[in-house]
Parts: sequence; structure tokens; C-alpha cells
Amino acid sequence: MKRLLLILLLLLGLAQFIRPDTSVPDYDPAQDLIAMTKPMPAVEQLLRAACYDCHSYETQYPWYDRITPVNWWVQGHVDHGREEGNFSRWGELPEKKRRHFAEEAVELIAEGEMPLTEYTWTHAEARLDAGQKKLLMDFFNGLR
Ligand code: HEC
Repeated sequence: MKRLLLILLLLLGLAQFIRPDTSVPDYDPAQDLIAMTKPMPAVEQLLRAACYDCHSYETQYPWYDRITPVNWWVQGHVDHGREEGNFSRWGELPEKKRRHFAEEAVELIAEGEMPLTEYTWTHAEARLDAGQKKLLMDFFNGLR
């Protein structure tokens, strides 16, 4: 039993060398959603706290998100989120795409589907109350 545990620990230790790619390409800060739309500070703060970790190149990884295998799961969400809409490249998206994203954002925030619940488990500051949801929805409504 003790030996099995040691082997498992050793494997977990070795697994730490197998990491997903978290690097980001060069990008132009002038094309950023917040830089372009200059929302009021409360909205900016909410966007950064609840959306930017997955929908931009400015992802902040807490220590537990750096542990293999959690990091693979997290990076999967980040890559997918950026594919759906990357706030760091907002200005490069076609206008139609931006409007569509904004429209979807209003709906998903209203339904409590964004930010993802897997995210709000560990990111308390991203749990939105009714007032915060309204602020974000008003912001995205202005971009439709
Ligand atoms: C934990 C990562 C994560 C966070 C945080 C997050 N998203 Fe997402 N988002 C995703 C992923 C993954 C998808 C694609 C899969 C899906 O729809 O579930 C997505 C999809 C979307 C879409 C759909 C785009 C389309 O064209 O259909 C919108 C809109 C969106 N997110 C807005 C937001 C907004 C606004 C916030 C902040 C309030 C946010 N997301 C926070 C990961 C995230």
C-alpha cells in the first residue's frame, strides 16, 4: 500500500514536466476590448475578473491551475474561450462577429452560463450578483 502510494506520487511528480502550451503570441494592446471601448471602471473590473482569464491573452493562472493534470483542463477552456472570442484581438474581429459575440454575451450572462460555473467554483470574484450582471449586460448591449 505504502509502495503504491509512493509510485503514484512519483508519477504525479514526473507528470509535472508534461505541461500544456500557455504562451501567447505578440498582440497589439490597442486592439483590446477595454482599450477600444473604455468602459466605466466598474465594468472594466468585472470584465477582468469574470471574462478575461478565458477570453483574452491576459490569463492569470493561480498556482493550482499550474498543476498537471489540472493545467490541461484549464488550458482547454482558455483555448476554447479565446477561439470563441478574444478580447485581446477585439479590434481585429469583423464587425459582424463582434456584434454576434455581444448579443450572445447578454444572453449567456442573463442565463448564468458565463462565466462558466467550473470557473466560479474557484474564482469568487467572478460570481456575479444581479447588479453586476446588469452592468455587464448593459455594456454588451451597447456593442450589439
Ligand atoms: C473558464 C473560462 C471562461 C470564462 C471565465 C468565460 N468564458 Fe465565455 N466561453 C468559454 C468557453 C470555453 C466558451 C465556448 C464553449 C461554450 O459556449 O460553453 C465560451 C463561449 C462564450 C460565448 C459564446 C460565443 C459565441 O459566439 O457563441 C460568449 C458570448 C462568452 N463566452 C462570453 C463570456 C463573457 C461575457 C464572460 C464573462 C462574463 C465569459 N464568457 C467568461 C470560456 C469562458
